[in-house]
Amino acid sequence: MANVQREPLCLVRGSINIDEFFHVPTVVQPGETLSSTHFERRAGGKGANQASAVAKAGARVKLIGAVGEDGMHLVQGLRTIGVDVSDVVIDDSEPTGRAIIQLTPEGENCIILHKGANFLSTPPLLAAPDAHPGLSYTHLLLQNEVPWDATVAYLSHASSIGATTVWNPSPLPTPAQLQAFPWASLSWLVVNEGEVRGLLAALGAHAPGGAGGPVAQASALLQTLHAQRGFAAVSIVCTLGAHGLVALLPHNDTVHVPAAKLDGPVRDTTGAGDCFAGYFVAGLMHARELSPEDVRSALVRAVEAAGLCVQRPGAVESIPLREEVEKRLS
Ligand code: ADP
Ligand code: NA
Repeated sequence: MANVQREPLCLVRGSINIDEFFHVPTVVQPGETLSSTHFERRAGGKGANQASAVAKAGARVKLIGAVGEDGMHLVQGLRTIGVDVSDVVIDDSEPTGRAIIQLTPEGENCIILHKGANFLSTPPLLAAPDAHPGLSYTHLLLQNEVPWDATVAYLSHASSIGATTVWNPSPLPTPAQLQAFPWASLSWLVVNEGEVRGLLAALGAHAPGGAGGPVAQASALLQTLHAQRGFAAVSIVCTLGAHGLVALLPHNDTVHVPAAKLDGPVRDTTGAGDCFAGYFVAGLMHARELSPEDVRSALVRAVEAAGLCVQRPGAVESIPLREEVEKRLS
């Protein structure tokens, strides 16, 4: 109950990257050399992207992560957006994490990650939140681009203080990690369809057959996941690209939210999932009580934000501000 009176604060323990975009006619094949037609360098990393989305959605957010000295401008950029970066570590022993992204004219992407400073585990705050006794927060948002032990330590701390926990397990952890994961500490799982299938396979569950359209299929996958051990109290949101999302809420309610109506072509889906996740958490933070209507409203806003995001180039830069999202919904 201690959390109820405080103004909500989202903690993100996650990655901060320099993203290098190579615009290519098609994704490069083994043995092939391709010239890129255009090159850009931007801020990225799922932790930084999702923290940016929470901030742009108008909610309080603190990012805990690490960069090398080549990442100082990223930290400044996050601060400008409104992310609390006072506990972001700048360390000269590792380069900032880096993503090499191939991007096709169709908006397809293909990514290589170098972990760099994201995998530092000192100072101790990077490994576990207990290292910062004054740290208090109402929501925790996690991905999988920092050391696994840190992700698990942050989750169990959040659970012990009664914070709402949201996990976007991307890239997908190993089967052994997923099998041992403390699912009971998790409030919300945010995944895409590939991740649901990967999760089911890792947990040894049989994915149901392919009857019906994408929404019906995803609903069946979520029901199967929900039936796994430890999932009784986990709500699941599965994003479906151009098909929007399906969510399985407490009391087993299934919700479908169609994708936003676009007013232009899909330019760049990089970061759409991150925009969605951050906006969704901000929506949970804004809700007074988590009624089904509150949850639906958070999902609708997150889908609208992601729809704006895919129509613009880049990750962080393409995340819309709350006013833009509200304007589209009014
Ligand atoms: P990820 O990038 O993590 O795989 P998705 O592709 O499911 O995630 O996209 C996340 C969200 O972004 C979707 O739920 C949807 O709201 C939005 N989105 C993605 N692609 C499109 C699209 N082509 N048209 C409209 N919205 C899209
Ligand atoms: Na984008």
